[in-house]
Order: sequence, then C-alpha cells, then structure tokens
Amino acid sequence: MANTSSVATKSTIFIIFGGTGDLTKRKIIPALYNLFLDGWMPENFKIIGASLDNLNDENYKTKLKSSVDEFSRKGKTKKEEWKKFASHITFQEVDINNSSTFKPLSVIIERYKKEWEEKPSIIYYCAVAPQFFGTIAENISQNKLDNDPETTRIIVEKPFGRDLESAKKLNNTLLRIFNENQIYRIDHYLGKEVVQNIMAFRFANEIIEPLWNRNHVEHVQISVTEQIGIGDRGKYFDHAGVLRDMIQNHLLQLICIIAMEPPICFDADEVRNKKVDVLKAMHKSMSEEIDAMSVRGQYSSCLIKGKEVLGYREEENVDPESNTETFAALKFYVDNWRWQGVPFYLRTGKRLIKTASMITIQFKEVPHKIFISEKSGTPKQNRLVISIQPDMAIRFQLQSKIPGLEMDLDTVDILFDYSENKKADSPKAYETLLLDAINGDQTLFMRADQVEAAWKLIMPILDYWEKNIGSDFPNYSANSWGPDKAEALIEKDGFHWFNLPDKNLKE
Ligand code: BG6
Repeated sequence: MANTSSVATKSTIFIIFGGTGDLTKRKIIPALYNLFLDGWMPENFKIIGASLDNLNDENYKTKLKSSVDEFSRKGKTKKEEWKKFASHITFQEVDINNSSTFKPLSVIIERYKKEWEEKPSIIYYCAVAPQFFGTIAENISQNKLDNDPETTRIIVEKPFGRDLESAKKLNNTLLRIFNENQIYRIDHYLGKEVVQNIMAFRFANEIIEPLWNRNHVEHVQISVTEQIGIGDRGKYFDHAGVLRDMIQNHLLQLICIIAMEPPICFDADEVRNKKVDVLKAMHKSMSEEIDAMSVRGQYSSCLIKGKEVLGYREEENVDPESNTETFAALKFYVDNWRWQGVPFYLRTGKRLIKTASMITIQFKEVPHKIFISEKSGTPKQNRLVISIQPDMAIRFQLQSKIPGLEMDLDTVDILFDYSENKKADSPKAYETLLLDAINGDQTLFMRADQVEAAWKLIMPILDYWEKNIGSDFPNYSANSWGPDKAEALIEKDGFHWFNLPDKNLKE
C-alpha cells in the first residue's frame, strides 16, 4: 500500500469471475462491504458477479447478504446499510469456457461509462480455480472487453502455477494480454496488518537497522502452524502439499520482508525489487543437501476430547497411499553480506496443536556474561517476536533485574499488543488488498519475477520429495507439534522451535 491509503475516488467496475464461489462469499464481498461501510469505496462503483449459475439480481444479492452476515468482521448486516451496498451489485451469467458469454459484459461496461460520464477503472477478478485464469484472460481479449493499461486490472489468486514451468506459462499467457502493471497476483499474507507493520517497524526506527544483520542476529524462525486440517479441499491439497500451498508463497514472502534491504522509497517496484533480491540470494539446495535441511510430515488420526480426528490419508478425496506432505520444516540461508551464515528456519503444517503465525528473530548472546545467578541462571538472549495471528503483537524480549536485594535477572517484554490498541478492529487482509487494487497500488502484490524466483527456490525440494517418497508417512499425530524430526532439524544447530504458550512468551 502506498504511504497513505486513500479513499477511492475513481468510478470502478468490479467483475468477479466465480461470483458465486467460496472465495467471493467468504472474502471478497465481505471485504468490499466493509470498505463501503468505512467510506473507502468510490461514489460510483458496480460489482458484477459473473458465473454459470442461473440467478437474477435479487437471488444473487440474497445469497451474498447471508455470506456477509456470516463472514464479515463487523457482524450481521444492518438493513439500510445492506440496501445501499446491494444497489451496487448485479449478476451476469457467464460460462468461463464459452467465449461468447463474455459479450454482455462489454455492454454493461459501456452502459456505466455513459451513465457516469467517466472512464471507470475496471477490475477483472479471477476468483476461480487456477486452471481458468488463462482462459478468462483469453476470453477478455477475444471479446475485446476494455483492456486499457491505464484503467484496467486483473486480479489472480494463488496458487500461481504448480511448479516453475506452469507459473512461467501462466505469466506468459497473462502478459500476452495485459501489462505487468495491470496484473495483481494476490498473496493474502501481505495484506495482514502485522505483516505490513514489519516494514514500518524495520524502516521507520533508527534503533533496528544497526542490529538487523549477521553481526547481531543468531537465527530467524518463521512458523505458521494451523490446527485445521484440509477440510473439503482434498482434491486440491492432495496435488499440492504445504510446500506449494504455504511455503512457495506465504512463508517465502515473510522471509523477503524480514531479510530485504531497505528500499529507497515506498514504491511498488522498488519494494518488490528488494524482495526479489532476497529470493535470488537464497541458497538453492542440491539434491544431496535436501535431507539435511528439510523435514516433511503427514498427520495420522488421533482422539481429541474423545472424538476421532481423521488421519490425512483417510480424508475425503485424498489418495489412501498419498505421498503429499501436510507439514514441512526447512532451513535456508540468504547468501549476501547482511545474512551470511544466519539460518532461517521455516515451519508450517496442518492439524498441529496450535494455530499461530509468528516470526522470531533471536539475537546473539552477549559477548561476555557477568550476571550468572543460581536462581535465574544465565541471562537469556534477546528476542524479537512478531505474532501475526491469532495474537497480534510485536514484543522485544530483554533482560532486566528483578526488583529486590539480589542481582537476579528475568525476561521482560517491551510489547506492542494490538488488542490493547483502539485500532485493534483492523481491516482484514482482503480489505487492504482490494482497496489497493482499486487504487492501482501494486506494492503488496506479487510480480511475475517474484513468483518465478520463489518457484525456482523450491523446485529442487519439490522434485526430490516427489522422487523419494515419504517412507515414514504418516509420521506425526494430529494435535501434535509435527514430526520429531522437525525438532531434530533445528536441535542439531543448538536451537529449538519456539512453541510458545498463548500470551506468556517467557520460557
Ligand atoms: C491459504 C492456504 O493460502 O492460506 C490454506 O491455501 C491456509 O491452506 C491459509 O489454511 C492460511 O491462511 P490464514 O490467513 O488463515 O493464515
């Protein structure tokens, strides 16, 4: 997002392909509704839900209303507010695979251009399965729908390809029809409030930068653990696995924000240049290194409160002999002057014991220890813990004297806790990202070279894991911290994962 987020003023037409799909219901419409309630939407805007269903405007609006009631962070809709918002919505039957059904969209666009007496921004939103992104782009082009590089944008969701080759192919297709500055590839982690704050934290504070390098940082952990399993997404997930589903995008983007050099300005291309440099500097593993720097896992069933939770291979639409990983822990190095020799550990998994996304920067030990007490032992290392969700907080852990007659030390937190801040009801990631797309700001979206650099980095691991099956699968029980080998991966370097209990981050 730009330095100052601005209320959208330019008339906008939002065409959502997949207008009745899950993403539209859960994320896109609730986000647009909240932007509308908070006064961010332009005066003139239209949301056109496009899908194969046979609906009229009224049925469509009724469906969307119940989704907003269920999924909006602001709770149930109020009658008058919904009525005003709904007056901006229409439905259009479109079959993505049938080019001729795109034609009426051009009539609709022309109608609003005339009505508003202004050339509006047009946002084509591909809220459909990835195999249709290319088809939608082709059909927009074939039907000569408005594609002015100045005013037209296309939003595509992840996954962006399933390997380097398919990502390149998709980039080529999109770039034949749109310019890079029209393509908005979503990684919703970049829209999360705390993730955006990492940049402010790093680049608006004088005290951080001198410490942010190999001289002071011992190691970095990025951990995104989820209690949920794969739900009803077996078909997709069994062909993906967490390496594709989480690491190639969300976790690598987090590394980029932590490890990037300071940008010269807060401009979309400048920020993304600095991020892509990180991916290019990351050490690409040779196949003989992969076992030593990675661990994969797959969950087995377990009983939680007397109720059986299915193992991965028993989930719907999953191959009973599946080799797909539901957990991964990886160690990376960023080979540049700033980070040489500092390990970055990444961990993510499904059906783990706790849902928590956090980044921990562990600083080195003090060079000479003068405080060693029997009671409190050796002072702990400083740590910066960035909790992204569900807790939203940034805490600096320092050592301090416990008040009293003895020289005993304990860890104290300098804490920015979002729940104590009035602005805690912060916008959801999709609100931030959609407003940026409406305003034409690409800072938080993935550029073609970023996506490809991320695939390049994980391709050796993907290939190796596909060729060498996980012979010990399933190797962790649901409701655990993942496979024991994940502990071993980090322990052999003398560290351990920070599985910290709720608000009490002291160990
Ligand atoms: C999605 C993945 O991109 O991110 C899901 O496909 C995952 O598998 C989800 O559960 C996690 O997002 P969040 O915002 O809930 O952390």
